[in-house]
Amino acid sequence: MTSPITPTRVSPAAIEAAARLLKAGGVVAIPTETVYGLAALATDADAVRRIYAIKGRPADHPVIVHLASADDLPRWARHVPPEARALAEAFWPGPLTLVLPRQPSVPDIITGGQDSVALRVPSQPVTRALIAAAGPLAAPSANRFGRVSPTTAEHVQTELGDAVDMVLDAGPCAVGLESTIVSLLDGTPALLRPGSITVAELEAVLGTRITAPGDNVRAPGRLASHYAPAIPLELAATEQLAGRIAAQGAPRVRVVALTWSEPGAASAANAGAHVEHMPPDARAYGRELYAMLRRVDEPSHDLLIVETPPSAPEWLAVHDRLNRAAHRG
Ligand code: TXA
Ligand code: MG
Repeated sequence: MTSPITPTRVSPAAIEAAARLLKAGGVVAIPTETVYGLAALATDADAVRRIYAIKGRPADHPVIVHLASADDLPRWARHVPPEARALAEAFWPGPLTLVLPRQPSVPDIITGGQDSVALRVPSQPVTRALIAAAGPLAAPSANRFGRVSPTTAEHVQTELGDAVDMVLDAGPCAVGLESTIVSLLDGTPALLRPGSITVAELEAVLGTRITAPGDNVRAPGRLASHYAPAIPLELAATEQLAGRIAAQGAPRVRVVALTWSEPGAASAANAGAHVEHMPPDARAYGRELYAMLRRVDEPSHDLLIVETPPSAPEWLAVHDRLNRAAHRG
């Protein structure tokens, strides 16, 4: 294809066309409830390799396989512990990914050569229809490696242009942050990536504590610098916002402040920053965060200062993504 392709609004015909492309080895950007994904048939190693090339993602980083239902687990995982069954029962379809021991038949390009595979059953109806029509889909987030995940079809189009065969547009994603990832490899459930399904919700189903990530598991979402906009980003507590903005040299240095509290917004404006408001609710904040990071990431801004969100447990995923975005190098 020659010029950036226009996202295709979802319709039964569009889903059929996407399924045909996938079955022919194509790469299609798909809406999920979390973020937009870059999908290929999970059984087609060559097509999955194309995803890596498009993203600029190192080949040893594993991708998630999206299934129609938990009934498909044994085809991909050689062992499905009771904890996995319980979590699947509670949260699928939905924004939860389980890391399980792989079946030998799973292509190495999907697992990054590891002995495990990441699996999830998405709830987004378009993606479900596509999986039903084409088969299980390997799909990382549809952004270039290390950058902010897309939550609209326009984001995908802007970032990946004509590199993909089709972009299916189902509007903005309902969750807006990537799925919660839980590893069930060694008997003890471990949180690899926080998401909208909280630790408390997971522990309530499991009846046990969830441990911190083991360091023998590779996960690019856990690299220090990730989910990063191009302009520098720093976090500042509400009471420190004005001081940080002034110290940076606003208004000579063009600072944009992302605030969630009224005192934060007022002091940032007084200190000479351009203020963008975020919702004071964790779910709504998470839904809007990536679109906002893209919106403020432009040459007319020198620096992004984010008002540190509340520390309550439901904000864990937001803190995780902001801390990564703030980290350089
Ligand atoms: O919400 C989501 O999970 C989105 C949508 C498209 O489903 N996908 C997504 O994929 O965020 P990606 O590739 O951007 O992030 C997948 C994460 C990575 O951090 C990867 O390292 C981890 O899942 N992962 C995949 N397979 C793994 C495995 N076998 N062991 C440990 N981590 C794994
Ligand atoms: Mg990603």
